[in-house]
Amino acid sequence: MDGRQRVLDLLEGDGVFLPIEEIAHSIGMDANTSRSLLEEMSADGVRVVEVPGRGFGIGAVTDILFEQEVRKFLRTRDLGNEIIFRHEVTSTNDLAVALAENGQPHGTVILADRQTGGRGRMGRTWISPAGVNLYLSAIFRPELPPAAATEVPIMMAVAVARALERQTPPLKLHIKWPNDLLYNGRKLGGILCEMRTSANRIQFLVAGIGINVNTIDFNSEISDQATSMRIATGESYLRPLLAADLLEEIEAAWDVWTTEESLDPFMEYWVERSILEGRQITVATQAAQVEGIAEGLAPSGALLLRMPDGSLREIYAGDAHIGPLI
Ligand code: BTN
Repeated sequence: MDGRQRVLDLLEGDGVFLPIEEIAHSIGMDANTSRSLLEEMSADGVRVVEVPGRGFGIGAVTDILFEQEVRKFLRTRDLGNEIIFRHEVTSTNDLAVALAENGQPHGTVILADRQTGGRGRMGRTWISPAGVNLYLSAIFRPELPPAAATEVPIMMAVAVARALERQTPPLKLHIKWPNDLLYNGRKLGGILCEMRTSANRIQFLVAGIGINVNTIDFNSEISDQATSMRIATGESYLRPLLAADLLEEIEAAWDVWTTEESLDPFMEYWVERSILEGRQITVATQAAQVEGIAEGLAPSGALLLRMPDGSLREIYAGDAHIGPLI
C-alpha cells in the first residue's frame, strides 16, 4: 500500500487527529517525510487540517460551535453528553437555568454564537457579538449541600485558566478573585455561577463561561479593559476545539473537587496566578467598600482580607481592585 493510502486509512473518520510522530511511526516514514507527504496531499486537494495540540486530521473543520464540530475534539466522560447549540440566545445561562428547572440532566452544555442579553457578575452586561467568542454554560447536579457552592467559582477559574493556557502556550494567565481571567491586566474571560437549592441540597448549578477568543475590536465601552486570545498571541483559535478543551479541564477539576471535597488541590495553581496576592486592595461588596491586604483564600473560596486593625475578614462576593477605588 502506498504512503498516501496508509495516511488516509489512518486518519479516516471524524475527529481523528494524530501527532506527526505517530503518523510517521504508523506509516513507516520519518516525521519530515510524513509532513511533506501531507503537504503534497493537501496541494492535491485532500483536506488536511493541522489542529494545535491534537495533530493532523483529514476532513473539514469549521469554527462554528455546532455539536458535531465540538464532538470531533471532545474526550470527556459525561460533561457534554448533551450539547445544545444556538446561533443566538439571550443568555446561555438563562437557557441553561430554564432547562435545568425542567429536569435537564447533569453534564448538559449550552453553546451560543451570540448572546443578546449576556450577563456578567454583579449585574453587569457581557457583550457577546457573533462569530468570534465563546459563550458556554454547563449544568451540574452535585450531591452536595448549598454551602459547598462557594467553592465552585474558584475551581472553575482554575479549570478555565488551564484550558486557555493549554491553547496559548507559553502565556501565563492571571486570575482575579473570584474568577476573572486576565492577560496583561485586561479581561480575557469571566465566569458566572448560578444555583438553585432545595431542602439543604444543591438542586442544580449552572456555570457560564465567556471567553474573548478571536475578537480584535472591542466595543468602546470595554476596549480599555478587555483583551482576547487573538490579541494576546496574534493567532486565531478554533472555537470548537477550545470548547472541548474547556469541558475536559472542567470535568477533570470537577472530579478532583467532588472526590477531595476541598479546594486544596487547586490552591497552588491559584496562588501562582492570583494578581491580588499580598496587595493592598479595595473590595466593593453589595453593602460597602472594604480595604485591606489580600491574603489568599479561605477553604470556602472566600477572599481573605487582612484589615487595617489586623483582623482577617472573609469576603464572599464583590469586585476587587488593586489600591484605592478612584
Ligand atoms: C463576569 O462578569 O466576569 C462573568 C461573565 C460570564 C459571561 C458568560 S458568557 C456565557 C454565560 N452566559 C451569560 O449570560 N453569562 C455567562
